[in-house]
Amino acid sequence: MNHGVDVVGSREDPNAPIRAARTLPVLLHSLSLLREQFEIIFANRKIKKVIEVGVESGQVSSIYTDLGADEVHCIDPYPSDKLRETLAENPKLHLVEGHSPAVLAELPVADLYVIDGDHNYAVVHGEVSWIIANAPDAVVVFNDVLWPCARRDMYYEPSPLTGEDKHESSPDGPTVWHDELTPAGVVGLGAFTWAVEAGGERNGVLTAIEDAVAAAGADEWYLEVVPAVYGFGILVRKTAPGAKKIMDGLKPYTHSKLIATLEANRISLYTRVLQMQYEAVAHANDADRLAETISAQRHEIERLRAELDRRGHEVHELRRTNEELRDPLSVEPPDLSAAAHNLKRAAGQVLRHARRG
Ligand SMILES: C[S@@+](CC[C@H](N)C(=O)[O-])C[C@H]1O[C@@H](n2cnc3c(N)ncnc32)[C@H](O)[C@@H]1O
Repeated sequence: MNHGVDVVGSREDPNAPIRAARTLPVLLHSLSLLREQFEIIFANRKIKKVIEVGVESGQVSSIYTDLGADEVHCIDPYPSDKLRETLAENPKLHLVEGHSPAVLAELPVADLYVIDGDHNYAVVHGEVSWIIANAPDAVVVFNDVLWPCARRDMYYEPSPLTGEDKHESSPDGPTVWHDELTPAGVVGLGAFTWAVEAGGERNGVLTAIEDAVAAAGADEWYLEVVPAVYGFGILVRKTAPGAKKIMDGLKPYTHSKLIATLEANRISLYTRVLQMQYEAVAHANDADRLAETISAQRHEIERLRAELDRRGHEVHELRRTNEELRDPLSVEPPDLSAAAHNLKRAAGQVLRHARRG
């Protein structure tokens, strides 16, 4: 069993295949995963110049030079320092800091266009229309031609699009689990937003490709999709060099129900994980709020307890005083010596009067 990677492990090292999986991100989304499919394209068509639209980390760019390209123009309006460093390591890679489709006209016509930039109708329609008009024999590949971008625009923010090019958008994201956007879905966290409504006209990446190809005569073009990693689309004019061989070579992938099912399942599980993460954060926030309430109530209980102690002490004192007042023995007898003295003086006077009289 040789799959180019160890998928079976051995008796001595049974976990070898799964160890590689531990190093992968939770969400696989990069075209770098489709090296095998790029190999089929390069094997059947001489490709020297590549235009890569939407580069992100630059992890795909050197695949094209590995496979034989000698000039790759990497377009991204928001290149990170990491991307600049990665591209600087390979003299055949050239960073183009700008927005597609506007910059396409400033670059040499290429043999291969890799479209994975802004995922919305206006931009993708502009890109495909420009390529069909100016490089009709080029091979064009796309990422994100299936759900959720197929029929719903996504906008990298800040978006330069205005007016009818941009549908009403939201920071909430799509999920497999219902049709509406949700904060528990595939959210951009400020990097991108989604059209609130899916479907209809002028909405989504696949709709954009279909419209641009229809305007050029759909029958003259091959348009197929490898249903993996959000949908890897391949567009090539039927009369272009190597077109049929490329499509035949890709057929096991473009016509695989198994791949389509696994991809749908992967996305379902991923959006379930997103939902669970969202709920976990919401529960953690609820728990924090509850802890704050409990702490405030504990302070209030302590304050009330201290108040109760103080009042109890007061009651005790009042009760003691009350009891003392009720007990006659506890009341001090009046001082009668002065009265006796006065009485004695008065009696003396009475006796003296009586004697004189
Ligand atoms: C999905 S990422 C590309 C991933 C990359 N192709 C990969 O497979 O690893 C999309 C990239 O497109 C860039 N982008 C957004 N709008 C663009 C535009 N109008 N033209 C070119 N790139 C754009 C974003 O900055 C982001 O880096």
